[in-house]
Amino acid sequence: MKPQATFTLEYPDLNYAEDLFSYGKLPIFCEFIDAEPMIDISQARDFIQGLIDQNRRQEKDYYLVVSNRKCVGTMGLIYNRPASHKSALIGYGISPFAWGTNAFEQALGDLVSIARSKGLIRLEAITRNDNKSSVNALLKNGFETEGILKSYYTAEDEDGIFRVDAHISSMILT
Ligand SMILES: CC(C)(COP(=O)(O)OP(=O)(O)OC[C@H]1O[C@@H](n2cnc3c(N)ncnc32)[C@H](O)[C@@H]1OP(=O)(O)O)[C@@H](O)C(=O)NCCC(=O)NCCS
Repeated sequence: MKPQATFTLEYPDLNYAEDLFSYGKLPIFCEFIDAEPMIDISQARDFIQGLIDQNRRQEKDYYLVVSNRKCVGTMGLIYNRPASHKSALIGYGISPFAWGTNAFEQALGDLVSIARSKGLIRLEAITRNDNKSSVNALLKNGFETEGILKSYYTAEDEDGIFRVDAHISSMILT
C-alpha cells in the first residue's frame, strides 16, 4: 500500500511563492473564492507577504500547508472579533493537485491544536453553500452545521452576477 503523504503547517515564507502561483493561477481553484486566478508570480509573493504582515499585526495566524517541501495550500485563523471572545474564523485553500488527499484533514488537525494552545473556544467557518467540497470537508472533520446565511455573497458566472447563500459551521473546543 502506498504510504500517505505528510502535510504540515509552516510559517509563511516567500520562497514558496512559485508553488502557490502554480495553483493560484488555476480557474478551478478560484471558482468559489473572492479572487481572480493569478496571472503573475508577483501576486503570489504579495499574498504571502500579506499573510506575514497580518500575522505580525496579530490579525491572523495563517500558515502554508507543506508536503515534501512544496506548498500545497494555505490555512489559518482569522481574528474577526475581539480577543476576549476566544473565537476565530478559519480560512483555507488547498491546491487542486492535493484535492482528495488528506491534506485538508491533516492541516486542520494541526490548526485545531494551535487554536487550543492559544486558548480559543470557538472556531467557525463560513463558506459558499454551493461549495460542496468545502462544506463536506468541514463536516467530515469535526465541524457542525449551524445554519444558512441567506444571500450572503455576490457571485458571478458566465450568465452574470447572482446572490448565493453561505453555510456557517463551528467546532467548539472544550
Ligand atoms: C475546500 C477544499 C479545501 C476541500 O478540500 P478537498 O481535498 O477537495 O476535500 P475532499 O476531497 O476531502 O472533499 C470533501 C468531500 O466533498 C465531496 N465533494 C467534492 N465535490 C463535491 C460536489 N460537487 N458535490 C458533493 N460532494 C462533493 C468529496 O467527495 C468529499 O467527500 P468524501 O470524502 O465523502 O468523498 C478544497 O477543495 C479547496 O481548497 N478549494 C478551493 C478553495 C476554496 O474553495 N476554499 C474554501 C473557501 S471558504
